[in-house]
Amino acid sequence: MTGHVRPLEWTGGRLRLLDQRLLPARVEHVELERWQDVVAAIQSMQVRGAPAIGVAGAYGLALAARALSHLDPSAYHESLNAAADELAAARPTAVNLPWAVARALRAAEAAATPADAAERILREAQAIEAEDLRANMAIGANGASLLPHAARVLTHCNTGSLATAGYGTALGVVRTAWEQGKLAGVVATETRPLLQGARLTAWELAQDGIPTTLIVDSAAASVLRDGGIAAVIVGADRIAANGDVANKIGTYGLAVLAKAHNVPFYVAAPSSTVDVDTPTGSAITVEQRDPSEVAAPDGVDVSNPAFDVTPADLVTAIITERGVFTPPYAESLRSGAANA
Ligand code: MRU
Repeated sequence: MTGHVRPLEWTGGRLRLLDQRLLPARVEHVELERWQDVVAAIQSMQVRGAPAIGVAGAYGLALAARALSHLDPSAYHESLNAAADELAAARPTAVNLPWAVARALRAAEAAATPADAAERILREAQAIEAEDLRANMAIGANGASLLPHAARVLTHCNTGSLATAGYGTALGVVRTAWEQGKLAGVVATETRPLLQGARLTAWELAQDGIPTTLIVDSAAASVLRDGGIAAVIVGADRIAANGDVANKIGTYGLAVLAKAHNVPFYVAAPSSTVDVDTPTGSAITVEQRDPSEVAAPDGVDVSNPAFDVTPADLVTAIITERGVFTPPYAESLRSGAANA
């Protein structure tokens, strides 16, 4: 199987992360023992990608539950809830993070003692991680069935093993298509300003031997006009009930370009990314990141939104582990959401 990189691993009392800020120049891990360090790692993007930060958040709550278990029951519940709130809010756009933290917290409701609660939260975090990996394999199969033979696909950001519990979402589709012998290659956008495409996607695909061409973000228009791209496939951080999709900044532009050149635009994501509680994309909070991530001369204002929202009418289909959903999404997606 392709896609062996592991972004995170529970090592018995600690959360071990592959530090994605350093890739591909350095492959280094950090070991986190405190839930506050998990919040910081999510914010600094040592771990990133919607499903991966969800899994990290759930393990963060497991660390909190262990650390707080000496408190008396009422102080324990108050502190655990406060830790859950902080973990869930570490980044605002990906719904997988609050979804996973809330699920882990709910698992502790029936616990008899704080030690029991800690154990239940840990088991739930492990279940979320295992389910995400299984979901990605199913997304891969569902998405690959949409591609023609000898397809070249264009993708944005990093949606691979690094962004998930393993295998990937949009890159899961790429991997399955490659394993089935129907993929000619991938065009990966650089993905400014943090270069998830250049540093992470290109690195992952090179390890799997999948032919990859890296382009600067602004080359996508002419690449799509020149022909030969069978589909644009991206991931998502949150999919609203009407099918609007929040994903890495630049996704919206790619969707407009795909439409202009009659290329299908697919969004691949687990059901934990579909949020029926968010009616439309306008209700999604787009994270604004530090201006220092964008190089600018002193005194020049920088706007650095990390995501944008693609309207549902530009999305050809949404690929989840539960199947392939097509418009009208307000109806079709009802069975596609983990929180429905
Ligand atoms: O800011 P990032 O790197 O966390 O953004 C990641 C993305 O936008 C991904 O496309 C999305 O989370 C899906 S990952 C399977």
